Amino acid sequence: MAKILIVYHSQTGRTRKMAEAVAEGAKSIEGVEVISKKAAEATAEDLLSADGLAIGTPENFGYMSGMIKDFFDRTYYATHEKVFRKPFVVFISAGNDGTGALRAVERIALGYKFKTVFQPVIAKGDITEEILNQCHELGATIAGGCQMQIY
Ligand SMILES: Cc1cc2nc3c(=O)[nH]c(=O)nc-3n(C[C@H](O)[C@H](O)[C@H](O)COP(=O)(O)O)c2cc1C
Repeated sequence: MAKILIVYHSQTGRTRKMAEAVAEGAKSIEGVEVISKKAAEATAEDLLSADGLAIGTPENFGYMSGMIKDFFDRTYYATHEKVFRKPFVVFISAGNDGTGALRAVERIALGYKFKTVFQPVIAKGDITEEILNQCHELGATIAGGCQMQIY
């Protein structure tokens, strides 16, 4: 049974809505277990026990949110030698850009040596049906791939 960990931060609810759609997508794959945690509550053990990781962050000052950075900072030493090529995806909520947050997350993913398995979802402004559909697909893709062990 594959386990997908979703770690997100959200102040005004947009990234949370995206995280919920990612979770629904992942749960649509039979037999997949989904753990969804706010970044402040997610631990190194969560990361180690997951088969795949989805990170969700707002863009803050052209970067990922501080809470997501904190999750990475807290878990790096305990996990980075044990997560080589762990399947990884990212979703971002931005006011009007999102590229700075994406670049920052991608750089950190390289540090952990995660394997990115689907293109990022970047929402600009309000969360639309189209964005929720993309998030659903993101969740279903990483979960389906992990369940079938194709990564
Ligand atoms: C402190 C702060 C900094 C922000 N910086 C950016 C930014 O650099 N680029 C951008 O496109 N949006 C920026 N925004 C807007 C948020 O990314 C946007 O409102 C996002 O949808 C919030 O997601 P949330 O509802 O999950 O908190 C910023 C918002 C805050 C509060």
